[in-house]
Amino acid sequence: MKLPRNFFKPLAVGAPAPLRELPVRLERMIHFVPPHIEKMRAKVPEIAAQVDIVLGNLEDAIPADAKEAARAGFIAMAQATDFGGTGLWTRINALNSPWVLDDLTQIVGAVGDKLDVVMVPKVEGAWDIHYIDQLLAQLEARHGVKKPILVHAILETAEGVMNVEAIAAASPRMHGISLGPADLAASRAMKTTRVGGGHPDYVVLADAAGDAPRAAYQQDLWHYTTAKMVDACAAAGIKPFYGPFGDFSDAAACEAQFRNAFLMGCAGAWTLHPSQIGIAKKVFSPDPGEVAFARKILDAMPDGSGAVMIDGKMQDDATWKQAKVVVDLARLVVAKEPEAAARYGL
Ligand code: GLV
Ligand code: MG
Repeated sequence: MKLPRNFFKPLAVGAPAPLRELPVRLERMIHFVPPHIEKMRAKVPEIAAQVDIVLGNLEDAIPADAKEAARAGFIAMAQATDFGGTGLWTRINALNSPWVLDDLTQIVGAVGDKLDVVMVPKVEGAWDIHYIDQLLAQLEARHGVKKPILVHAILETAEGVMNVEAIAAASPRMHGISLGPADLAASRAMKTTRVGGGHPDYVVLADAAGDAPRAAYQQDLWHYTTAKMVDACAAAGIKPFYGPFGDFSDAAACEAQFRNAFLMGCAGAWTLHPSQIGIAKKVFSPDPGEVAFARKILDAMPDGSGAVMIDGKMQDDATWKQAKVVVDLARLVVAKEPEAAARYGL
């Protein structure tokens, strides 16, 4: 085990000190851009103004013969764009791939000071984070990067799920973890052919009552993993995210999957298509009715202790803390989108 005093020491001479707290940021959607396509790169300034995070994807969905072009395209778009308050991330190739070393050395060398977070796919255990941690520190030191580049792991292998608590706590560089349902389904030999979402055959049947037709209730295939990931992240003080939803034609199912994740504690989800940006914005911004009720709780218990009744419902220190989560998130939304102030009465 690493000793407490060493945990926050830079891993290379001249690298910036690791952060003790994550920056407070609204991160409702991580919007994926394929940087090898010039037409897509040209839209980045417009997209950056609509989303909380722009991510240049170098891994899956980028053809093998376009990997170098994607990396160069990412560097070009990072250099050419003023991202303002919008986060800039990249998803690098897997640690066992022929591309990842150049991904990191070239990107940190060229745009290390603009890059907020590196998303690492197929993380299996804490050892993967330790490798990235050390390498990033060496590159930060070499290129004089001033603030530490954070790391976000994708939870998308059975081994990763088994080790999720150790991954979350592996380094102060950890920003968060995203559920990767497509790779995870394959890794577990789940019998699906989808990118996230439910399955019509994953159901419980209502009890039989004579010959009456029995209702079937579809269940959430991702509930267990999301819950495990949320607990690992919350305990380690980092942020959990739902990942991709591949059926762009089914906005309602995408919204339902995102909302389950939001209610269970996730901060955001991936958006792979522009039509999903509005869905993520709606779902991961708190509901105005919930905010109004949460404000009543905070107002009724100014010091956060005791017990009061509001609208027939008992409130105490624990509901005060829940209310604070909701109101703090609403304030974060308002800080980014001042027009939301009226909606939330803030
Ligand atoms: C994402 O990378 C996934 O595999 O779902
Ligand atoms: Mg994947």
